[in-house]
Amino acid sequence: MEELYTLLPSLALAGASLVITYLVLSRAATVRHLHHIPGPTWASWTPLWLVRRHLRGRVSRDLAEISKQYGPISRIAPNMVLVSDPFEIRRVWQVRGPWYRSRWYDMFHFDQPVQTVLSLRDNAAHGALRAKLVPGYSGRDVDNLHSVVDRRIADFVDLIERKYLSTEGDYRPMDLAEKAEFMTLDVISDMAIGHCFGCLQEDRDTFGQIDFVTGSLPLLVVMAVVPGSLVLLRNPIARAFLPKDKIEGALRMQGLAKKNAAARYGPDKIVARDMLGSFVAQGLPYDNAWLETFGQIGAGTDTTATAIRMTMFYLMSSPESYGKLQNELDSAIESGRVSSPITESEAKQLPYLQAVIKEGMRTWPPVMGLMPKVCDTEQIVCGKRIPPGTDVCWDAITIMRNREIFGEDAECFRPDRWIDEKDPDRRKIMEQIQGLCFATSSRWECLGKSIALLELDKVFVELLRRFDFSLVNPMTPFSTYDVSIAIQSDMWVRVQKRHNK
Ligand code: HEM
Repeated sequence: MEELYTLLPSLALAGASLVITYLVLSRAATVRHLHHIPGPTWASWTPLWLVRRHLRGRVSRDLAEISKQYGPISRIAPNMVLVSDPFEIRRVWQVRGPWYRSRWYDMFHFDQPVQTVLSLRDNAAHGALRAKLVPGYSGRDVDNLHSVVDRRIADFVDLIERKYLSTEGDYRPMDLAEKAEFMTLDVISDMAIGHCFGCLQEDRDTFGQIDFVTGSLPLLVVMAVVPGSLVLLRNPIARAFLPKDKIEGALRMQGLAKKNAAARYGPDKIVARDMLGSFVAQGLPYDNAWLETFGQIGAGTDTTATAIRMTMFYLMSSPESYGKLQNELDSAIESGRVSSPITESEAKQLPYLQAVIKEGMRTWPPVMGLMPKVCDTEQIVCGKRIPPGTDVCWDAITIMRNREIFGEDAECFRPDRWIDEKDPDRRKIMEQIQGLCFATSSRWECLGKSIALLELDKVFVELLRRFDFSLVNPMTPFSTYDVSIAIQSDMWVRVQKRHNK
């Protein structure tokens, strides 16, 4: 027995060595299967390299640096590659291609009873569900899209007039980052669950959605890049550690979405020509219907708010573009080409406005997430062999700032590039690549694209026709925490009434 005790340390050491050797060898096999793709050494051994980039809160910009260093394709995790060639990403995302969503998308489905269109990974199941949602999202089955957007933008204007108009003797700074999200939350809640959250009317995040996103999204996205770790979220013990105050608002929102959907089923069901009514008419069961409407809050608020904030930021820091847009609006209003509120078709006739909207999203793509796609067979991407099961991610920043496509000054916000380009072929390519912001022409093209564009078509006109905006802190204009889905805050602006308007 005594001998056994003396042997124990050596046995433990031998056991540990065996485990470590096994782990190193199995990892070495994974490392080898993508060894022909350049990238940081640590990234090929462990996802922690990518996790660290996420935790620093500037992952998209870090990844753009990686593309600069290693070229159009680079390895960013043991099983993940990053692609910055826009044409290759268009090919991977194409409608009829063999690629499908990778396990990264599991972060959009952790304890819900059924999958949503945003979390479904299987192409056939995704396509079937998507077909039932298109009539609602396209507005074909829905009567109230325009009036909802008009009402909520009117609330935004009203809030500014009530609380945030600065004059020479009265300084009332406003956090544009926060108010833009109030607006998009009010639009989507009104449209999707028939209950406007009233953030603009009360001037507060009534359901704690911003807190929920900033409190939970970073954790989710980080877990999404560590294979298998999302399983933890489905474990009730691990879930007990989630911050209760942060998820309380989300649970209340879920409750509203369920209640609203429940009224559309059963013998006394309400029939309406709104988004939910369309989903029901297309045959969606109750669980799918409420989850799709609830999912719109996640998919459609931060994204559109980012487009509003960042476009306003670029306008405020580019006086020439700001002036040109305001002149276009003023002369259109004077010549009676713009109603109040502006209609969508009137907005589409304003070329500089359209150029500003495109350029704002190009310069700062609202969705910079990795959005990895995977294939069951070996593929060639950027001339490199991609083994089956490898996650292929996009590098949003590098793609949107490609100089061959958008010109030498691609990193600058210059809406005129969309007006000046007269060659139809070049212009078409610019449109196609910028369209990747909405995953246009892919099987996962944003379903809310026309709703987002409707908001953008209207909001800048209604704000800029009435007010002048300027940055309070041009040296630190806003904060951003970028975990591949970037969250901006503290964009303080000074708003003044345009007296001649
Ligand atoms: C400027 C604003 C927006 C941008 C840039 C944007 C961008 C995107 C992108 C890139 C995708 C593709 C994701 C993937 O590859 O899997 C997507 C999907 C989606 N978006 Fe948006 N989005 C915006 C606004 C909205 C809005 C307002 C809604 C809802 C009202 C919405 C609902 C959706 C849905 C449901 C999907 C999933 C589509 C599918 O899987 O077939 N989005 N969006």
